Amino acid sequence: MHALAGFILHEPQILEIANRFQKAMTDGLAGKSSSLKMLPSFLTKPTGQEKGIYLAVDFGGTNVRVLTVEIQGNGAYRTLRRRSFPLRDREEGYDFTTRETAGSDLFRFIAEQMEAILVPGQTYPLGFTFSFPSRQTGIYQAVLIKWTKEIQTSGVEGYDVAELLQKTLDGKNLKQVIPRAIINDTVGTLLTAAYSDQQADIGSICGTGHNTCYLEPSSPMTGKPMIINIESGNYNELPATDYDMQLDKQSQIPGDQRLEKMVGGQYIGELTRIIIQDFINNKLLFASGRPEIFFTPYNIKAKDLARLLADESPELTGVSQWLKTNCQIPCSLLEERTALRTIATTVITRSIQLIAATFTGVLKHIDPGLEKQHTIAIDGSLFELMPGYANKLNSTLKNIFKDKPDLITTKLTKHGSGVGAAIAAAIIED
Ligand code: GLC
Repeated sequence: MHALAGFILHEPQILEIANRFQKAMTDGLAGKSSSLKMLPSFLTKPTGQEKGIYLAVDFGGTNVRVLTVEIQGNGAYRTLRRRSFPLRDREEGYDFTTRETAGSDLFRFIAEQMEAILVPGQTYPLGFTFSFPSRQTGIYQAVLIKWTKEIQTSGVEGYDVAELLQKTLDGKNLKQVIPRAIINDTVGTLLTAAYSDQQADIGSICGTGHNTCYLEPSSPMTGKPMIINIESGNYNELPATDYDMQLDKQSQIPGDQRLEKMVGGQYIGELTRIIIQDFINNKLLFASGRPEIFFTPYNIKAKDLARLLADESPELTGVSQWLKTNCQIPCSLLEERTALRTIATTVITRSIQLIAATFTGVLKHIDPGLEKQHTIAIDGSLFELMPGYANKLNSTLKNIFKDKPDLITTKLTKHGSGVGAAIAAAIIED
């Protein structure tokens, strides 16, 4: 399909993106103009011996997860209580992500979730995962630079989220909670993996959003090792197709988060929809009509793509079922089903290749001759649930480093973003 040609990346292009990404990292670290913010975390890796009971809040943009975690030492931890709530629920009639919602309401909602899992009489040091670009000036100060992932809640951008949370805790007289650390979810993922694996030095989220952090051997701030939140979702030196431009133009902040808009779970369904819509407009698909679903923005989700990719049957009966139940298309031709699956696969494959390119850039930055073992800790729905995603990401990386493929391991670090907040709080207390 000619229209998809711009999505196909070959190895030389992937390597070129990796090299440019590496240069953008160095520029960002040096304070030069770069699409990579390279934000300091004020944290380094845990020893694996930290201990205690902690409260963690994981706020990522889709759900608020609260958990109490026992950090046990020797690389072990156990979740004691856990609760997860969506930030928007049409049936329940609430949405904390719109411009009409005040930040104070959002933070009250978060505090209510916390309160529900606390054991009376016990105090809890708190680690707070706040998964948005935030300027940190210390381990418990984080000013939100700007919302990403299409969140718009008012009165949070430009404010210290630690202060907003403290105000809410004070307002509720919640003295059991003692805030200690605020971190990005990529940092949480790296901390969780590194707690039991000293070779872990890169953490990434491949989910609704996309971003990566890594252990910088010599932070410009201290000259010592520090985990840096790259905010790689904002990387912008990329070969964008007309479809990408269209998505960007219609998004909340055009021009921002260009990589994330090409790879993240929030956007890949929409990108697929935009392509399908174009195919329909050009009479290349569903000649007999204009199925509503493909003409309504953000109506196709990453989980729809997962359904298309999961179907490996010769007649694509799963795709046919999806068209019937989700798109009100009772009859389809095999070639239409094949085209749909090909479009979804193409979008997903590019997502994997672009992410592999950025990981390659990070690896070249921290270990130019690739001499050491590296674990890339990854959390997020795409890496965990999208059929074939984790395998293909792994094989793409191993192919790039074909001389020493065994030095690189990718590892699903489930719930790492939340558990990592507890580990961060434990590091601070130690
Ligand atoms: C967005 C946020 C980033 C976060 C990522 C994954 O890119 O800007 O801070 O790490 O999503 O949740």
